[in-house]
Amino acid sequence: MFLPLLQTTMSQDPRRYHITTFGCQMNKADSERMAGILEDMGFAWSEDPMEADLVLYNTCTIRDNAEQKVYSYLGRQAKRKQEKPDLTLVVAGCVAQQEGEQLLRRVPELDLILGPQHANRLQDLLESVFAGNQVVATEAVHILEDITQPRRDSQVTAWVNIIYGCNERCTYCVVPNVRGVEQSRTPEAIRAEIEVLAQKGYKEITLLGQNIDAYGRDLPGVTETGRHQHTLTDLLYYIHDVPGIERIRFATSHPRYFTERLIQACYELPKVCEHFHIPFQSGDNDILKAMKRGYTQEKYRQIIAKIREYMPDAAISGDAIVGFPGETEAQFENTLQLVEDIGFDLLNTAAYSPRPQTPAALWDNQLSETVKGDRLQRLNHLVSIKASERSGRYLNRIEEVLVEAQNPKNLGQVMGRNRGNRLTFFTGNLEQLNGQLVKVKITEVRAFSLTGTA
Ligand code: SAH
Ligand code: SF4
Ligand code: F3S
Repeated sequence: MFLPLLQTTMSQDPRRYHITTFGCQMNKADSERMAGILEDMGFAWSEDPMEADLVLYNTCTIRDNAEQKVYSYLGRQAKRKQEKPDLTLVVAGCVAQQEGEQLLRRVPELDLILGPQHANRLQDLLESVFAGNQVVATEAVHILEDITQPRRDSQVTAWVNIIYGCNERCTYCVVPNVRGVEQSRTPEAIRAEIEVLAQKGYKEITLLGQNIDAYGRDLPGVTETGRHQHTLTDLLYYIHDVPGIERIRFATSHPRYFTERLIQACYELPKVCEHFHIPFQSGDNDILKAMKRGYTQEKYRQIIAKIREYMPDAAISGDAIVGFPGETEAQFENTLQLVEDIGFDLLNTAAYSPRPQTPAALWDNQLSETVKGDRLQRLNHLVSIKASERSGRYLNRIEEVLVEAQNPKNLGQVMGRNRGNRLTFFTGNLEQLNGQLVKVKITEVRAFSLTGTA
């Protein structure tokens, strides 16, 4: 008697969707837009992928382990589809782009495969699926301006894509293959999105791009001095006065394009936070050359010195790869030395992973997993020592924290970030404090987070 009743109520419920996102902020932003599209289509969120009628994996292929994770998740859903044939299975993102139709051969249960450039077209593609087709959308396209409202995870901080794709050709990296060439959004479209965010009460925005300081190179217009009219620097000035937005961040910066003009803008513009994410990848010039990064470690040091000249307290983070093909112990030690000298607030580290269709994967001077693992461990050890040292400067200081959530491990506390992007906890009530800038006296410091009192 109970069962039929339950079934009737269930059939009246909207279909439910679940998205799992792998990879970088670009993917997270794409997922929020795709979630917005699905909700516009009448789908409701399901936290549990095993309960959902539509499951979307937004995938990453930057390293082999990221890709393998996707296959194991997919395997589970493919099996579930055998018992629930109306389950819609979608793979989006960078593995979708890289593998395309081959994914169908591997997982024939898939309904839709779409590359990152097609994220904003999700509705059209799904309609084709619901009409009975198996769809693969991976051809290079001009990315559609987004018309749906993203379903954003936070109500306080928001991502704003300003440039898609990457025109670099770092010899280890799949991103240009899977994200396509650079496509900048217009300053007007970006400002309009930020104005809507401000009206909705968002306080902080992070401008996003794989190579954000390349912004505007593909837009028309040059100045009298011959430089591109629309640069990241110009964009910062252009959007800075949107009322209601209190903080602006941007990521990821490439050392090759990082200018003093940009540093000056960050110094002059009060909303731009003193936090710079500038990957260096290696502290050795020969490795940098083999990676085709287009700068030397000296140039990198000069950029950081210049930032610190203007903003002595600036937080610096970056990415580094150990065990690139041919890297000697001495070359690896140059990376350690750079980390020692710069003193990063945070460093994302990874062992080199050979990727399909990248030049370095074909070289015959690959290092063993043991050497790579050992170097990664040594680097990580140094990174946490340096991060602790950097955290030390905050002790007893008053930091401005933008409250964005409850501390999941201590419900009496709220959490947010200081301007330098350190996660900071303090006792407080989220309902009262969410979205507020609070002055917090730092009483405890750890390598990657702080605790204080308001
Ligand atoms: N556009 C950014 C980074 C994008 S990818 C830049 O140029 O710095 C994010 C990070 O993944 C990179 O900074 C790099 O450190 C790491 N990465 C990319 N390809 C990798 C590979 N094949 N093996 C290991 N790490 C890699
Ligand atoms: Fe990859 Fe290099 Fe482009 Fe960064 S700049 S996304 S590392 S190719
Ligand atoms: Fe991964 Fe694609 Fe980002 S490969 S790191 S999700 S651009």
